[in-house]
Formats: sequence, C-alpha cells, structure tokens
Amino acid sequence: MIKHIINTDDDISIRKIMQIFLKKEGYKVTSCKDGNELLTFLEKNSEPVDLILLDIKMPGLSGFDVLDIIRSSYSWIPVVMLTAFTDLDTGLKAMRLGAKDYLAKPVSRENLISCVKRVINESEKAKDDLALSLKNLDQQKELEGKLEIALGRLDNTTRSTLLALAETIEQKDSYTKGHCQRVSNISIAIGRALDLSNEEIRIIEGGSLLHDIGKIGISEEILNKSASLTKEEYELIKMHPVYGEKIISHIELFQPFRSIIRSHHERLDGKGYPDGLKGDDIPLHVRIVTIADAYDSMTSARAYRAALPVELAIEEIKLFSGSQFDQHIVNLFIDRELFLL
Ligand SMILES: [Fe+2]
Repeated sequence: MIKHIINTDDDISIRKIMQIFLKKEGYKVTSCKDGNELLTFLEKNSEPVDLILLDIKMPGLSGFDVLDIIRSSYSWIPVVMLTAFTDLDTGLKAMRLGAKDYLAKPVSRENLISCVKRVINESEKAKDDLALSLKNLDQQKELEGKLEIALGRLDNTTRSTLLALAETIEQKDSYTKGHCQRVSNISIAIGRALDLSNEEIRIIEGGSLLHDIGKIGISEEILNKSASLTKEEYELIKMHPVYGEKIISHIELFQPFRSIIRSHHERLDGKGYPDGLKGDDIPLHVRIVTIADAYDSMTSARAYRAALPVELAIEEIKLFSGSQFDQHIVNLFIDRELFLL
C-alpha cells in the first residue's frame, strides 16, 4: 500500500524538492505551507497518514506548537522535525517532545529517504505490536472468562457434593432432616454479622454442612434410639467428630472444614469432646457452628425428645454463654435475632 507523507514547510522551494525526492520513492505526498494548513488537512482528511515532516521555524504556529497538538490528537502519526543545520539542540528538544527523529536542513536525498523509511517501518512495527498485544489481551480475557466458568462449575460441583453428603447424614439419622442446611444457614448469618471474608464464609458453609458427617460411622439403631442411651452408646456417639475428620481426611477440597468437623462439640470451659479444647484453642469458625448446631438441635424434635420452643432454646444458650458458648457470638446471635432464619 502506498505510504502517505505530509510535508510541512513555509519555504516553497524546500517543499518542492522534498516532494520530488519522496514521489520518486513511490510515496504519496501532501504539502502544507504552515501549521494551520496541516491541522486543517488532518481534521478534514479521512485517508491514513503515515508520516508528517514538520519544519520547526514557521510563521504562525511554530513546529513545536503543532507537534504538541499532533501528539495529543493524532498520537499514532509519527513526526520527523526539520531544523536548521546550526540548530541541532532544537532537533534534540523536538525528539524529547515526541518527534520520532529530526533532519538538519539542507536535507540530502539519501538522509531524507533513509529516515522516512526507518520511521515509517518502526511505526508500522509498533502498530503491529500493539495489535498483537491487544489480541493477546483479548485471548487472556477469553481464557479468564473460561477459567471463571470452570471455577463456577467446580464451585457448584463442590456445593452439590456437600449437599449430597449432608443429605446422606440426614437419611441415616431420620430426626435430623434439614438440620445440616439450617445449621449452615445460621452459621453463615453469624459469619456475615461478624464481617468475615467470603473465603471464611465458604469454610463455614462447607464445615457446617458436613459437621456431622461422622455419624455415617455410627449405627442407625443408636442414632434413632428413642430410649435413653447407655453410657457405652453415648461414648460411641461422641466418636462421630473423630470419624468425620477421618472420612474427609482423604479429600483435599474438604481440608478447610476439618476443624469444624472435629471440634463442633468442644466447649469454651474445656468440658467438650473429643479433645477437651478450651477458649481460644477452639477456632472462631468452630465456635460459630457450635452455637448454630446447639440451637437447631434444641428446636428440632429428636428420637428421644420433642422440639424445644425458640424462647426456651434461647434461654438455654444464654445460660451457657461464656461456659459452653462464645459470649460475643451468643450476644450477636440473640441481638440480631439470627435464629429467625
Ligand atoms: Fe454433632
């Protein structure tokens, strides 16, 4: 494609000779006598311009004034400045201000052509590089989009797996229908009230859905027994957090839920099980799920007792605030009525 050069100089003889040199090399040349004519041409012209040759000393707008306007409004067009041979500092200044090169007058044919060729080539290459990096950016965005969809799918799969496992626990322990989901809902509400991060909420969600997964290892006869449990049976039930931790120990994705599963029956005063952890040794996520679990267990009917009314369950939780349950979380749970979910 023929390259288009605009040659701007107030000296008609220079304009003419430059035009002859450039046309001989196959360039299309538009000549302008000053900055205003050049700017008017750029404004009205719709065909591409590949290079501007710009004299520095011109009547009216100086070459620097015009260079400034071109850099801000036509930044993609390279500019080569023309300066008097005795004034090379001005040429260097022009380059600092954004010109691609400068030529000292009088310009020889060889110098003009080699400079024009080089600047146009560099400009084309820069445009190609820009187009390539934009294409790469597009591809990167496309890949990020695909990754996001894949992660979303994985997230959905993880959630479905969690729900399926929670369902399995509830199928086995018929009195706990919907228990895991409700504990999860309450725990998430407490987590949000505590301004926890989304990542922490995800841990709380997964851990609360799976907190009783170890019940899979306890016989249905014991789980659904309506009569009081013997001491041995109770000791067996108390093993479910340990079984639960063992069940998930091989699943990498579930490792963040480990402490909730193992420690959701611990108490602040150290009288819980299986490890008798005390106070701050019980992680915050666990302390949250413990309250949600206790509340939902009390307000749901069990094989061995009827459901407790909400008011009584709240009283019970208040009674054990500070000994069994974290005081701050209990206050938040009651003040914000997070049990009304
Ligand atoms: Fe439990």
